[in-house]
Amino acid sequence: MSVQAEEEHVAANMRAAGAQSAAQSAEADAAIGRALGKQDPDRLRGEYVDQGSFLYLSEFLPPEATQRLIDAANALMPEVNRNFIPGHKAGGSVSRHTIDRLQPYIAELYRSPKLIAWLEKITGDRLQLSPENDPHAYALYYYTRAGDHIGWHYDTSYYDGRRYTVLFGVIDDSSCILDYELHTRDASKTDEPGAVQYPPGALVLFDGDKLRHRVTPSREGEVRVSLTFEYVTNPNMRPWRRFISNMKDAIAYFGFRQVFRKALQSARAGGGKAGGPA
Ligand SMILES: [Fe+2]
Repeated sequence: MSVQAEEEHVAANMRAAGAQSAAQSAEADAAIGRALGKQDPDRLRGEYVDQGSFLYLSEFLPPEATQRLIDAANALMPEVNRNFIPGHKAGGSVSRHTIDRLQPYIAELYRSPKLIAWLEKITGDRLQLSPENDPHAYALYYYTRAGDHIGWHYDTSYYDGRRYTVLFGVIDDSSCILDYELHTRDASKTDEPGAVQYPPGALVLFDGDKLRHRVTPSREGEVRVSLTFEYVTNPNMRPWRRFISNMKDAIAYFGFRQVFRKALQSARAGGGKAGGPA
């Protein structure tokens, strides 16, 4: 192939990839539009506030979007990074970097303008996407072996502002429960325990620093996959917090290669941080 033909071939591929990305972006936003058609945001905002910045919707995503997530989660099984912290956590994770490479529909769902506008209405905050080098911006969590779980924790924000977590149920052939306690950081209210076993298509939304939560251990033969989205109010992170956050992500979620290679690339490019939850 001549140099000119080679260049034309590359340009044609890039145009095709761009068109595919635009189509996926429109599809994802349309799916969120269908999800929101059934919701009453004012009522849900009230529910969210009453529950101390927590909301659970047992039905949210339309069936075709849920099915796409199920297919993506199954396709990403070989990419799962397993981790184990004695006494606190066991399970697998797939980071946003792997999702970007192999299942970009999930990234389009994360960036859906309709979803972000709705989340802003419910939380009452202006939300921003997590920085490019944050492996938790969107990630899949896998519970596939007996005993996979995560102990009580907050999704602590290492950013200068607040950090919101959105969870979607993707696959749930398990007995795992999301246990939580509302109002633990509000001295004027009594702690209120709750539990949900959120099915495929369900949504959980909370302020990471306000909801104490855990996922109970899976049993032999069970499979559970959930998708998490993270939004922030200020994407800046101080250097010492960045270091702690990177270490947690490397050990507890995605492995040192994923976390520090991306952090290094970002530092070289003059970018920000990498971070994540507890
Ligand atoms: Fe969490």
